[in-house]
Amino acid sequence: MLKPIKLANKNFLSSLDTSSHELFHILDIAQNFKNNDLNIELKDKVLGLVFDKSSTRTRVSFQVAMSRLGGTTVDLNPSTSQIGRGEPIRDTARVLSKYCDVLAIRTFKQTDLEEYAKWSSKPVINALTDLEHPCQALADYMTIKEEFNDFENVVLTFIGDGNNVANSLILCGALLEMEVRIACPYGYEPNNLVINRAKKIYKNKNLLKITNDPITAVRGANVLYTDVWSSMGEENKKEVKDKDFVGFTIDQNLVRKADKDAIILHCLPAYRAKEITDEVIESKKSRIFEQAENRMHAQQALLSCLL
Ligand code: CP
Ligand code: NVA
Repeated sequence: MLKPIKLANKNFLSSLDTSSHELFHILDIAQNFKNNDLNIELKDKVLGLVFDKSSTRTRVSFQVAMSRLGGTTVDLNPSTSQIGRGEPIRDTARVLSKYCDVLAIRTFKQTDLEEYAKWSSKPVINALTDLEHPCQALADYMTIKEEFNDFENVVLTFIGDGNNVANSLILCGALLEMEVRIACPYGYEPNNLVINRAKKIYKNKNLLKITNDPITAVRGANVLYTDVWSSMGEENKKEVKDKDFVGFTIDQNLVRKADKDAIILHCLPAYRAKEITDEVIESKKSRIFEQAENRMHAQQALLSCLL
């Protein structure tokens, strides 16, 4: 029986906190959990959730994952804790890590997440920052592997904002040596540091493509992926972004240009008629709700490999 191997890094702050080998391993463990082939006990372990932004999937999938492992969670947010009254991260992190065995943080700045990790004596997980969403990417690639068995010769095209979700897809794609294409409006490209890091991992393989043309990007693609145009914290940019992203909606017309067996992914929540049409979300090609389910299995695997 496959057993979780402890990750070399204490924290999971970025998709690059695992090696390529470790990433494959987490995906295998996740699939084993999903198939009910694995029974791991993290009895009495406590996961602390500190969420400065809203969440449905990440919060609940972590809570259920922990409960399936025999552990428990505590859920904090700025309005129910002293965080909202300005208690410094270095104090919060030191205290919470005395009570909890692992912390999952959802916040704005990646540097704030790093500050938690610096002062926490226990592992810290990135539950989404403005820069990355690495837990999401675990579930995304698990869903792709379930569909295609492998990552070789599979092309993922992300259409939309070069945001946290796109950044983590790029980094994981590089670790898995899979072709990733990003199509975004001019000025909304993914983070430069992320692109450069991914290119280094891909070495001389030309498997990362950034373009402003969604039509060429979807040609022959096996996976079409999108996310909201305006992320949490960008509420004041909505009007401008809605205009800038015209032509970047995943609709049936765009889907028809991809491979005939292409699947559709979206991390959710989705804004129907903006980044994706209702028809595409509800179509036979959609694996969006399997993908959401996989958040739980992937995080169960991650927790098993961190603790
Ligand atoms: N995809 C995702 O992270 O969803 P939530 O914001 O609901 O957690
Ligand atoms: N890019 C989105 C993802 C939500 C899961 C956001 O940061 O709001």
